[in-house]
Amino acid sequence: MPLRSLRELPIASARVLVRLDLNVPLRDGAVADDSRIRAALPTLEALLNAGALPIVLSHLGRPKGQVRPEYSLAPVAQRLAVLLDRPVLFVPDCIGEAVSTALQRAHPGREVVVLENVRFYPGEEANDKEFAAQLRHDAQVYINDAFGTLHRAHASVAAIADLFEWKGIGLLVERELAALERLRSAPERPYVAVIGGAKVSDKFDLLSALLERCDALLLGGAMAFTFLKAQGYAIGSSVYEPELESAAQAILQRAQALGKQLLLPTDVLITANGDTRVCTVEEGIPEGWIGYDIGPETERRFAELLRTARTIFWNGPMGKYEEERFRSGTAAVARAVAQATQRGAFTVVGGGDSIAALQALGADTAVSHCSTGGGATLAYLAGKPLPGLRALEQS
Ligand code: 3PG
Repeated sequence: MPLRSLRELPIASARVLVRLDLNVPLRDGAVADDSRIRAALPTLEALLNAGALPIVLSHLGRPKGQVRPEYSLAPVAQRLAVLLDRPVLFVPDCIGEAVSTALQRAHPGREVVVLENVRFYPGEEANDKEFAAQLRHDAQVYINDAFGTLHRAHASVAAIADLFEWKGIGLLVERELAALERLRSAPERPYVAVIGGAKVSDKFDLLSALLERCDALLLGGAMAFTFLKAQGYAIGSSVYEPELESAAQAILQRAQALGKQLLLPTDVLITANGDTRVCTVEEGIPEGWIGYDIGPETERRFAELLRTARTIFWNGPMGKYEEERFRSGTAAVARAVAQATQRGAFTVVGGGDSIAALQALGADTAVSHCSTGGGATLAYLAGKPLPGLRALEQS
């Protein structure tokens, strides 16, 4: 079903409701990482240049339908004003009188209005139609540019779209879909996917879908231990998901049936009582020891395969990335992905830790596309329908 882009909508001098994903990390009341705010700028600038009044809706965190000041979008609005270099009018509510009054005073084409966290109301996550109607604010056009939230069937993402004849996607969603579609439909080969992170359960559908499309799948992070355990290796006290062992087994068998390479760690960095050492998977991790990163031999094997890739998708850290001493595996993958990009490969990276690892190397701009989506990116690549896109489809 076709989706309208911002360029095809009657935005000139219009009141435009824009759903963004401004769910950014805050530290001591200030924005700690403004990547998602920066990613929203092209759409806001296009609207202002067309003389429109952008009214921004977003969530922040999971306040569960209650007003929780620590989840206020006020610091985000402040940061937006700096990045946009234009006035931003913050309204401490997302519905009601306060919003109507602010909108009457606002100057189309000159300023942006940011409304308070939509998740302060239970109607948001309930996808409540009445709440959606309250969020409408007499806007003529609705634009969804909240790529990271497209997998949520929430009022400001899904129900609200039914209230608009003129609706479509913003420039960020357009860019994200173009990059991910290239992975889904026509990846240049070899296509190598690197997946890490804590849980197989979060990524099972993604792993199954990737296996069908890519040529090689490299697995690291805590999730690798469920696979190693399923293969009969001793994993000591490493974290794993016993209930997912048979699912891991099924993925291993499917890889074999398809003739795809599935690489697991052959050595790991283990720790116990403050000591750390490298241990091979063959020798087995002793009881009481926990694997927290891939080992140097695995780093080399992964990097070698990434060197041959023409397309790469990377999501999830290779180890306990928060601690400096377990960062080496993730940094090695980040370096290999950046180098592959320099050699002409098309590379897409998703997920906070993977992008942070690239940033630490100063290499986040050295990959083809850093996705702003977490769960949304994984859902899209797993082939799941995204409620936020469904709601915008034109019949
Ligand atoms: C995200 O950070 O992935 C999006 O903003 C969605 O947030 P949620 O998982 O709280 O719905």
